[in-house]
Amino acid sequence: MYSIQPIAKDILYVGASDRRLAKFENLFPIPRGVSYNAYLILDEKTALMDTADASVAGQFLENVTAGLAGRNLDYLVVDHMEPDHATMIEEVLLRWPDAQIVCNAKTVPMLKAYFPGDTARIDNALLVKEGDTLSLGAHNLAFVMAPMVHWPEVMMALDTTTGTLFSADAFGTFGALEGSIFADEVNFERDWLDDARRYYANIVGKYGAPVQAVLKKAGGLPIQTIAPLHGPIWRKDLGWFIGKYDLWSRYEPEEKAAVVLYGSMYGHTASAAQAIAAKLAQQGVKVAVHDLSVIDTSEAVAECWRASTIVLAAPTYNAGLYLPMHALLDDLKALALQNRTFAVVENGSWAPMAGKCMRAALAELKNCTVLEQGVTIRGALAPAQDAELEAFAKAVAEAM
Ligand code: FEO
Repeated sequence: MYSIQPIAKDILYVGASDRRLAKFENLFPIPRGVSYNAYLILDEKTALMDTADASVAGQFLENVTAGLAGRNLDYLVVDHMEPDHATMIEEVLLRWPDAQIVCNAKTVPMLKAYFPGDTARIDNALLVKEGDTLSLGAHNLAFVMAPMVHWPEVMMALDTTTGTLFSADAFGTFGALEGSIFADEVNFERDWLDDARRYYANIVGKYGAPVQAVLKKAGGLPIQTIAPLHGPIWRKDLGWFIGKYDLWSRYEPEEKAAVVLYGSMYGHTASAAQAIAAKLAQQGVKVAVHDLSVIDTSEAVAECWRASTIVLAAPTYNAGLYLPMHALLDDLKALALQNRTFAVVENGSWAPMAGKCMRAALAELKNCTVLEQGVTIRGALAPAQDAELEAFAKAVAEAM
């Protein structure tokens, strides 16, 4: 059964949610699923704004068919070529053979790479560039190039008639759409913000500068509604979510808060991490603690995007660093995290190396401070180290 609904005048939501996929990009756990949003504009001309992943093909095609209600499809606007939004392009072109692709010059080679069998339709694409407009009748689409948010060909389209910004991956989140598809009809801050931050940090985090460039362009646009390719649609309080994107893309923490991220083989480093967290809390610091063997690396990355101050605690392993901590530090470097304060706790039964390894990895992050004061544990935390732990927690708190 089709599932479509209006999001603005003459604009229908025709996307669908996948509740079965275990990992987005076969990498990031999505226990709440994910939505692949697509939109249909019904004017003198009709336009489909992006397609969807093959996993939701049936629902997506049913929705587009129901939305068109027998009308022809005139345009297929391709804002983003990543397969989670582009896989159904070929099927859409088969079902609606008169539809013309609308894209930019960078999209064309990608279309040909993914759909090598249909180059004639691709060669017939209507190419648009920054500032170009396309009239559908009462609605006009104005195109805004958004390279590297999150692939080079990404563009956004603003329907200047309703102020609807089709924002591609920007302002997206993990999570299937259940019940309402609108951010103002769910408790976004309570139920979605963590997933939105995790989506941003892990998918788009590396591309802070391009996101900033687009935010500056968007600041001058008359936007009433943000229609992303994943997650709820924004009709109210746009500034609140844009503000989060501004912080995230400038690599500024959302909160003056500490997060203790630890790896622990037998519980001793975990015990030290909990003791440090307790001492930080006693200093009045807002603190969260996570075991890197329990949470996914993508969640730890998101916590690093949220908090100002990060305490890393890990055992030495094979004369190097315990693997979950290694994975986190690799990811933080790849995603270009900046502007944080770090402190380091190492464990090593006979030759502690974890601290040195963590410091070497942190030295590669831009604009980050690593406290000189650290803690070394030789197996279990010794009662005599309590004063040392107290001083360490105080130094972390004072550095905030
Ligand atoms: Fe949701 Fe970059 O694709």
